[in-house]
Amino acid sequence: MAFSSGCRIGAPVAAILLLGLAAAASAQLSATFYDTSCPSALATIKSAVTAAVNSEPRMGASLLRLHFHDCFVQGCDASVLLNDTATFTGEQTAFPNRDSIRGFGVIDTAKAQVEAVCPQTVSCADILTVAARDSVVALGGPSYTVPLGRRDSTTASLSEANSDLPPPTSDLADLVGNFSRKGLSVTDMVALSGAHTIGQAECKNFRSRIYGESNIDAAFAASRQANCPQSSDGDKNLAPLDESTPDAFDNAYYVNMLSQQGLLHSDQQLFNGGSTDDLVSTYASDAAQFSADFAAAMVNMGNIGVLTGAQGEIRLICSKVN
Ligand code: HEM
Repeated sequence: MAFSSGCRIGAPVAAILLLGLAAAASAQLSATFYDTSCPSALATIKSAVTAAVNSEPRMGASLLRLHFHDCFVQGCDASVLLNDTATFTGEQTAFPNRDSIRGFGVIDTAKAQVEAVCPQTVSCADILTVAARDSVVALGGPSYTVPLGRRDSTTASLSEANSDLPPPTSDLADLVGNFSRKGLSVTDMVALSGAHTIGQAECKNFRSRIYGESNIDAAFAASRQANCPQSSDGDKNLAPLDESTPDAFDNAYYVNMLSQQGLLHSDQQLFNGGSTDDLVSTYASDAAQFSADFAAAMVNMGNIGVLTGAQGEIRLICSKVN
């Protein structure tokens, strides 16, 4: 049916058009986005990330988490990279980020190297998205093609960082709801949680689990307690999220769940008699299925709320707006 001239678009039609526009924003991302404008962009980012991860394997985990914390707050727009100034408060002091997110220096180095070959062409949001993929690969995980063409925000949101990043006290229903509000499925949520096969967590984030919960392997809890006292001493003491292979991107995170060795309360929620048990069992026994689902979920997460076209800007320095 063609609209006659003067036809007023009803609310449902307008809503559908808006949804279409939102989908079109991510549809504008393209794997070949920099092929002409900056053909060496991807190789430049990869070499900076690989060097950093080779010198400190945990950095791969930190870069992967930084991308997640970017995408869940205002979309994948590099808002997490903006420093506070006298007149601007960014996301870095939000409760889930403060003294915890890392990797800014690696992104700054990659950005400087990319700027040297292609000035003001490659966004910080794309660099962070590619750095997350290259980190996974550097630690032995799956590779996947990253759609590109994100632009950088000129704003950040401390309040959204506090409200939208899931806390480790989350129950399964909280996690499902949190990811669903970002357009991610339960499968995406369970697969993305496999990122906890690498990296470290602070004692204060798992203390209540190792001292207070019953769905935890007793020997595992005791070994974690040795470096995480019940008093508030040692709040910042670190433990690997996956004790068996902390620097390898594999499916051991799910194997741990089966024996109640999830470190965070939120981790063990994925295998605690609920609706995601079967998927955790599948990933524990089928590494290839996990790799495929993780890669697809990373692409889905990387599409959240992206700025494209004339929106936002290409920052010159990732920590501040132009
Ligand atoms: C499902 C909800 C999630 C919760 C509740 C959660 C929570 C946490 C917490 C509390 C830590 C430890 C932080 C610290 O003690 O400093 C952590 C670390 C980490 N998270 Fe998550 N996370 C979730 C999902 C994700 C996702 C989707 C990714 C990436 C795709 C991710 C990647 C990581 C990585 C790699 C680390 C280790 C970082 C490092 O060693 O620097 N997490 N997460």
